[in-house]
Amino acid sequence: MHWENQDDGQDPKEKINYKSTFRLITGLLLPEKRGFAAAFAWLLLSTAFNLLTPLIAKHIIDTAIPAADTRMLAVSVAALFLNSILFLVTNYFLRMRLVKTGQKIMTDLKKRMLAHMLALDLPFYAEFPVGRLNARVQADTSTLYALFTETTVNIFRDILMFIVTFGVMFYFSPKLTLLLCSVFPFVLVISSVFLRKSSTHFVTVRKLASEISGFLTEHLNAAGLLQTFNRERMTEDRLEDINKRKFDAELKAELMMIIFFMSIVIISPVSIAMILGVGGGWAIEGKMTIGTLVMFILYIDKLFEPVFSISEHVSIIQRSFSAGHRIHKILERKPAITDPPQPHFISSIKDGIEFRNVWMRYAADAPWVLKDVSFTLPRGKSLAIVGETGGGKTTVTNLLFKFYVPDKGRILVDGKDLADISLKSLRTSIGLVQQDIYLFPGTIMQNLKLMDDNIPDEMVHDAIRTVGLEAFFKKHGLNKHIADKGANLSAGEKQVIALARAMVLNQEVLVFDEATSHIDPYTERLINAAMQRLLRQKTMIVIAHRLSTIRNADNILLVSEGEIKESGTHDELLQKGGTYSKFYKLQFGEGAR
Ligand SMILES: Nc1ncnc2c1ncn2[C@@H]1O[C@H](COP(=O)(O)OP(=O)(O)OP(=O)(O)O)[C@@H](O)[C@H]1O
Ligand SMILES: [Mg+2]
Repeated sequence: MHWENQDDGQDPKEKINYKSTFRLITGLLLPEKRGFAAAFAWLLLSTAFNLLTPLIAKHIIDTAIPAADTRMLAVSVAALFLNSILFLVTNYFLRMRLVKTGQKIMTDLKKRMLAHMLALDLPFYAEFPVGRLNARVQADTSTLYALFTETTVNIFRDILMFIVTFGVMFYFSPKLTLLLCSVFPFVLVISSVFLRKSSTHFVTVRKLASEISGFLTEHLNAAGLLQTFNRERMTEDRLEDINKRKFDAELKAELMMIIFFMSIVIISPVSIAMILGVGGGWAIEGKMTIGTLVMFILYIDKLFEPVFSISEHVSIIQRSFSAGHRIHKILERKPAITDPPQPHFISSIKDGIEFRNVWMRYAADAPWVLKDVSFTLPRGKSLAIVGETGGGKTTVTNLLFKFYVPDKGRILVDGKDLADISLKSLRTSIGLVQQDIYLFPGTIMQNLKLMDDNIPDEMVHDAIRTVGLEAFFKKHGLNKHIADKGANLSAGEKQVIALARAMVLNQEVLVFDEATSHIDPYTERLINAAMQRLLRQKTMIVIAHRLSTIRNADNILLVSEGEIKESGTHDELLQKGGTYSKFYKLQFGEGAR
């Protein structure tokens, strides 16, 4: 089981590639530059309104009230009120603009990641478990979303707010402003210590959270298995253990947060005390007006707030870089198998398929899985592959579909090397019924069309007629709903549906990798009958465990330990009295023909 290391997918020692991650992030930002520019404009307006309030207050206290000018007072108060409304409105537009732009970037990025991942090869999926990919698409993109909505534009507001506030305060009283600045070192020390300490706890919390979700996914998927072997209690205990570790980390992180906020909260009254104490003294001496004092108190939070926010921005930027790095690692991954610069397109297969001295192993240090395999399959003929489990049968189809490339030897389609043939056109011409059958939740009809609504119903009905499965699909109506992973169907029924699904596209060549599961005699007869029709009509490769399926194949290969040990028709192989005939007699008893 791999849930233990299903963290957020990054080796802590792994260096972040800042240059390429930066390029990824700017590449996401640039197409939306108009959205960000609009947000920036709203930001300038809303910051201006935000900073105007203390100045209006000062005007009221220092000018309108001493002059006993009630008209001016009323106008100023109205201006104060209007100013607040304008602040709210511009702030609303700012947030909306950022959310819209951020969402646009995220949906595009998710789409791009999905398209990219779907183009990647099987070795990629062996390296990255689906749970981890899911985390990357969900969690890492939402970290970037926070960067785009909380930081990219707002960091300018904080810088601007700090500079303007400092400037205005300095203009009215340089001495008091410099005095207040003595608090800054504390603010900086508190924020940086907090950031450093808390970020390790938050990383642990995130890591454990994804560990829990990985654990749940794997164990809930295997609920039946765990029940069979009475592992419920043990599973609960293991989950509790991870939960407890997360609880502790969470508690530590929260404690840091509380201490941090308490230190911030205390800074504000301390600064106000300084303003009132020192500034109040100057006011008594007539060196400072009351309005300026009030203005300072109203500005004080606007001076400190940006300093705290900046540390928050730094943390978001840090997290975004590690999320961006992980996303980049997926996006930079090139499919192992790509089309040559000038691929050859095939629209149909005219002559046939040939394997010429093909050798294959899944890794450089792994044993050979196919050893010098050669065979030809002329168009319109059928080829059956039988043999022991793990012998290399599915590997033959993996090579034919270019999921992998052979290490030695060549595979030819109509005399053209597979390496030169466009992947898409190859897979358009050859259909595959895989050994592991996957059905999507949805109706049988949707599954037969493989979710492509553009396929007319008539094509589905034709396919069903071709394989003679009308009775089966009467019993299991096309509108029947298939549960997740086809749980409400038997193994044999899934095979029948998969067979019909491969027929819908009416491809030239059909490869059928039979599942090992035992099916009832009725379904077996159904599949056999369908198969006999197909063997006559199509160019077919059938990998069979039940030898009854392939008795009529034009050529049968017996593959064992990656080598073709016997080949010929059913009768020839029986006569030969080798492994095939032994297999056959085992399945059907002595004297079977
Ligand atoms: N993706 C893979 N990575 C590494 N090794 C693999 C991979 N797929 C298969 N193998 C190995 O290659 C060998 C041949 O596997 P293959 O799936 O071709 O057997 P098979 O003949 O189809 O068996 P079965 O009848 O059980 O379906 C096996 O030893 C298997 O362990
Ligand atoms: Mg197989």
